[in-house]
Order: sequence, then C-alpha cells, then structure tokens
Amino acid sequence: MECTQKITDAITWVGGSDRRKSLFENLFPLKNGVTYNAYVIKDEKTALIDTADSAITEQFFENLAFALKGRGLDYLVVNHMEPDHCANIGEVCRRYPGVRLVGNAKTMQLIGQFHDVDTAECAHVVQEGDTLSLGEHSLRFFMMPMVHWPEVMFTLETSRNILFSADAFGTFGGFCGNIFSDQGDYADLYLEEARRYYTNIVGKFGAQVQAALKKLAGQPLSMICPLHGPILRGEAISFLLEKYQLWSAYTPEKQGALIVYASIYGHTENAAQVLAGELSRRGVQDIRVYDASSTHYSEIIARAFEYSHLIFAAPTYNMHLYLPMETVLQDMIDLNLQNRKVAIIGNGSWAPVSHSAMEKKLREGMKGIELLAPPLVLRSKLRQDQMEEMRKLADSIADSL
Ligand code: FEO
Repeated sequence: MECTQKITDAITWVGGSDRRKSLFENLFPLKNGVTYNAYVIKDEKTALIDTADSAITEQFFENLAFALKGRGLDYLVVNHMEPDHCANIGEVCRRYPGVRLVGNAKTMQLIGQFHDVDTAECAHVVQEGDTLSLGEHSLRFFMMPMVHWPEVMFTLETSRNILFSADAFGTFGGFCGNIFSDQGDYADLYLEEARRYYTNIVGKFGAQVQAALKKLAGQPLSMICPLHGPILRGEAISFLLEKYQLWSAYTPEKQGALIVYASIYGHTENAAQVLAGELSRRGVQDIRVYDASSTHYSEIIARAFEYSHLIFAAPTYNMHLYLPMETVLQDMIDLNLQNRKVAIIGNGSWAPVSHSAMEKKLREGMKGIELLAPPLVLRSKLRQDQMEEMRKLADSIADSL
C-alpha cells in the first residue's frame, strides 16, 4: 500500500522508513531505523528528486506510481549517488522510459559506474546556478562537492524556496507517521541522532560544509528536504543551520568534560571514575563518561564534537595502545576533529606506553590540540600516593572550563 505524504499541493514525499537494517553503511548502529527520502514534483513537467535504498524498493515504486497518478516521469534529479539513494535509478529508467537524468558531469560518471544505464541517451547535465523549469515550479542547482561525495548538489525549488539538500541536514531514525520537524520537539526527538549522523558521515568535510553554508547564506528557505529524517520547517531550519556552523568549524557546542576510557580489568576505569568525581567536586556539571569497549565509537565521536574538553584513559596492550582506544582516536583523526583541550591517563604494569602513544597520536593527528597537563601514568592501578597528581590533573581541567 502507498505511504506517501504531501509536502505542498504539488510536491509529495515518496520515500520510506527502514527498520530492518541494523547497521547504516554496515558500520553505524541504527536505534530506530532510518528514512530514505525522495520527492515528486508535479507541474507541466514531472520530476522525481532522488530515489531510495534497495531495502525499500517495493514501497518506493508503489509511492512513486501513486504520486504520479498515471502520469509519466520527465526528470529524475540526482542530488547524490551513494547507493542508499541511487539504488533504483536503473529501475526508474526501465519503468519510465524517456526520463531525463539531471545531474552534473560527476553524477553521470558515477551513474555509469553503478548502473547499466547509457547516460549519453538520457543525461541532462547541469552546472552551478543552472535552472530547469517544470512550469510554475523551477529548479536551481548548487554544486556542493564533498558534502560528502564529489557529485553532491543541492536543488532549490525557487517558487516556494524549498531546498532539497542531499545528505545535509539529515539524521538517523525512521518516521513515526510525522514527517515534518514541527510535528514534535525537533531538538528532543532528533538532535542527538542528527549530531551522530553529521559527525560520523560528513564530519571530515568541515571546510566543504562551510562553503555550502556560505552559498546558502541569505537565501530564504521555507523548507529543507534532506535525504534522511524529517523535513525541516519553522524554527528547526535556523536551529540546525547554527549547529552545522559549529560542527563544520569544529567548534564545541558546550564547555564540558568528556571522559573516554578503555580498561582491561577495571583499574583504568577506576582512575577515570575517580577523575570524574574530582571534577564534580570542583563544580563541573554534565560530565560524560564512556567505555570505549562497550560504547560504539560513533556515539563517542558525536559527543567529542559536542564537548570542549576530552580526557582519554587507556592501558598498554601488546606494547602499544589498547585497541578500543586506538580505534576511537584514529576515527577522531580521520574525521578531522580539532581545537580541543585534552588530558591523558595511561596505564601499564611493566612497560607503560599507552600515555605516550595517545599523546603522539593526538599531537600528530589533530590540529588545535592543547594538552592541559602532563599525562598521568599508572602502574597497574591508581594508588593513594598518586592522588595528589590526580587532583592536580582535575584542577587543570576544571580551571580551564
Ligand atoms: Fe545517505 Fe551519502 O548517503
């Protein structure tokens, strides 16, 4: 059965939710599924904005046929070629012969790589600022390379200022009937997962996102229609634009302490908990503590983009840094996180090296890192005669908050 929803009289959401997938990109745990959004505009000409993941192919085509109500399809606008949105391009071409594929030169190259579609026959190649009239509705195209793939573009419907923004401004989470941001408390319902989505999927490309935000500056927008998650309208638009400014500039959202530890037998964990308690005694609020072995790194990454002060505690293992911490730090480096104040606690029973491995990794891999104090080095466990050093470490962190 079709499951469409109207965006305006002429524009219909034809996407769907997928709650069977457990790992997005086979990496990121999904707590309540994900949506793949696609949109149909009906005017003198008809246009489909993007397709959907193969997981919802049947629902997608049922929705598409219902929205078109027997009409053909003149254009398929391809804003993004990652398979969670492009999987059905070949089938769209088979079901709607004569459809023109709208995208840039890079889009056409990727269509040829992913699909057995001869784009020489059906391509409508666009460049920055080009427009396409559908009748009363008109589309303008903005190239947004590396947000987060090279072919990405945004499409603005100019008669109503509705922006189709590819992956940008999206979030994890399936729909529960409501598809608009103002049908609930956006910050309460979506912010945590929007942050986890942005930081892990797009986080590396802050400079490119900053360029995208500059292009959008001053552009009145009545709605933002991303490829995942709710359609933004009302206050959510400026709310999320402001978050994107912070995230893409690697500016913390809040001054606060995030403690990430990894621990083999609980001794490093104990040191992390002692530090958290010392910080609390010094008035630090909203402290976050995570075990890198049991908390998925995508959650820690999201929190690291949010917090200003990052404290890492980990033991030595195989004469190196314990792997769960290595994974978290390497992912932070790969995602270009920067401009943070950090502190380090290492542990090792006979030849501790985890503290120096963490310091080297942070100093060499991340820009704008300030080490607040010399690393605290434990021998097997935190002992009473090291409490003075621990208190000094807590003082350094609390004083800089
Ligand atoms: Fe939702 Fe980059 O694909």
